[in-house]
Amino acid sequence: DRSVKIAPSILSADFANFGQEIQAVEAQGADWIHVDVMDGHFVPNITFGPATCKAIRPHVKTVMDVHLMIAPVDPYIEAFAEAGADILTAHLEAGPHIHRTLQAIRGAGCKAGLALNPGTGVEDIAYLLDMVDLVCVMTVNPGFGGQAFIDLSAKVRRLRQMIGDRPIHIEIDGGVTPATAPLMVAAGADVLVAGSAVFKGGSVANPAPYGENIAAI
Ligand code: DX5
Ligand code: ZN
Repeated sequence: DRSVKIAPSILSADFANFGQEIQAVEAQGADWIHVDVMDGHFVPNITFGPATCKAIRPHVKTVMDVHLMIAPVDPYIEAFAEAGADILTAHLEAGPHIHRTLQAIRGAGCKAGLALNPGTGVEDIAYLLDMVDLVCVMTVNPGFGGQAFIDLSAKVRRLRQMIGDRPIHIEIDGGVTPATAPLMVAAGADVLVAGSAVFKGGSVANPAPYGENIAAI
């Protein structure tokens, strides 16, 4: 279903060659580029920060979708906005003042995303829906690529109902494969993040599998 956007996560790409990896997946059908920022505190893994985002920005011709798995968020919003993030997504669980964080993200000129861990319910975000452009439903516990998908179809369906006619994307992140993607689209998702399912079987030297992998999702 090509009305559904595919956002490859560069967490599964070659970290020494982000520029080429991004160009390869964009040439082969990626709609957005998903950038996973981890701090070793909010999640048990560390990736990279705003300097890396800034360095890859010129290679991203589509949309730079930055997923912040960090706490606190607020002190770093300006730096990620300056690095060129189009969408900045913060976790509801990352601090006590998510309303302020979402205000600050829009204030910095980015689209605002709100991510929910698998164990977090959707009813708590009712008062935030007019402040967000995207809700990211995590279908793994964040921190690593290649984990098993958690089927949260009922949560996604409820979220789509709560959103109503607001122009808000529902993005699914974690364990997306050709087998799990249709469940999420049927439940109301319109952006699918995929890391291992896109980059598996290919490399900078042989990027051809990326296109087949994207098409299969
Ligand atoms: C998980 C990250 C995801 C991850 C998805 O903490 O937020 O974006 O890269 O990887 P796959 O698609 O392999 O589950
Ligand atoms: Zn992510």
